[in-house]
Amino acid sequence: MTAALPSAASLYGRVRGVIPPMEWAAFGDDIDAILALKRQRNAVILAHNYQTPEIFHCVADIVGDSLALARKAMAVDADVIVLAGVHFMAETAKLLNPNKTVLIPDLGAGCSLADSITPEDVRRMRQRYPGVPVVTYVNTSAAVKAESDICCTSGNALAVVESLGAPRVIMLPDEYLAKNIAAQTSVEIISWKGHCEVHERFTAADIRELRDAYPGVTVLAHPECPPEVVAEADFAGSTAAMSDYVGQHGATRVALITECSMSDNLAVEHPEIDFVRPCNLCPHMKRITLTNILAALERDRHEVTIDPQIIGPARRAVERMLAV
Ligand code: 13P
Ligand code: SF4
Repeated sequence: MTAALPSAASLYGRVRGVIPPMEWAAFGDDIDAILALKRQRNAVILAHNYQTPEIFHCVADIVGDSLALARKAMAVDADVIVLAGVHFMAETAKLLNPNKTVLIPDLGAGCSLADSITPEDVRRMRQRYPGVPVVTYVNTSAAVKAESDICCTSGNALAVVESLGAPRVIMLPDEYLAKNIAAQTSVEIISWKGHCEVHERFTAADIRELRDAYPGVTVLAHPECPPEVVAEADFAGSTAAMSDYVGQHGATRVALITECSMSDNLAVEHPEIDFVRPCNLCPHMKRITLTNILAALERDRHEVTIDPQIIGPARRAVERMLAV
């Protein structure tokens, strides 16, 4: 017998601490329709940690950081994958599931890091540094991944760099992630000039002011932040690593130096923690809404396709990363 679907009304208890009733009133119908269509179409929704709580906690089947989404995308047993996140994440899911329909609800959900580098740029770096392996952050297009030896995420970048056994590594395109990793390894890192438009805005002074205003606050930063920001934090790690830290260290007041929805999603799981929010919004992540997730499931909008010429090499770079 098929299990009964949860209703939007029954899900509200989960998120009432972060979604006021007035706002929730606009979500109920879309949530019920999405839950029904997911079952009808044998679809799953993968949602990144930066998605808003009504998506993250009410319609998503699989949630996590970029690494977890890539790993779990490999094992998805469904006909359709809807990626509630940004375009490079949907491309990664498609690379790992070439025979499934992968949908991104808004094609404009990009990423300033992915936009900062082209395949031609990678080829030029190889010419400039012959024989030096190229590690590419997953926040890049499939075409850029296809030019790389191996991918990494913020969750495994150090392990990936050290797995290569090389004295020098080219790490593209996030300059700050590269510098933050360089501070933890003896491998020489050659970086690029890409930045995350969300994390580059945080400053070391922001953190010092925060500590003055909220004594005892535990500060967790994403490694896409500038190194001087990471130096002021108590811990730096991927969105999943920050989430684990919050669960394991018994902090009572936490500031997440990252995208705003992360605090909302963690506040649902940890109502006992006071999250202070010097956050920045990612305009790309915020393009994904319940309304366009519903439209994606109703009308296959927008199907992610990848040039057949680059699928093989791009997939190899992602699979090599997943094997580390
Ligand atoms: P994570 O891999 O840590 O989830 O980061 C993805 C991202 O886009 C951060 O800005
Ligand atoms: Fe890209 Fe930054 Fe947005 Fe993450 S937060 S998707 S790195 S622009």
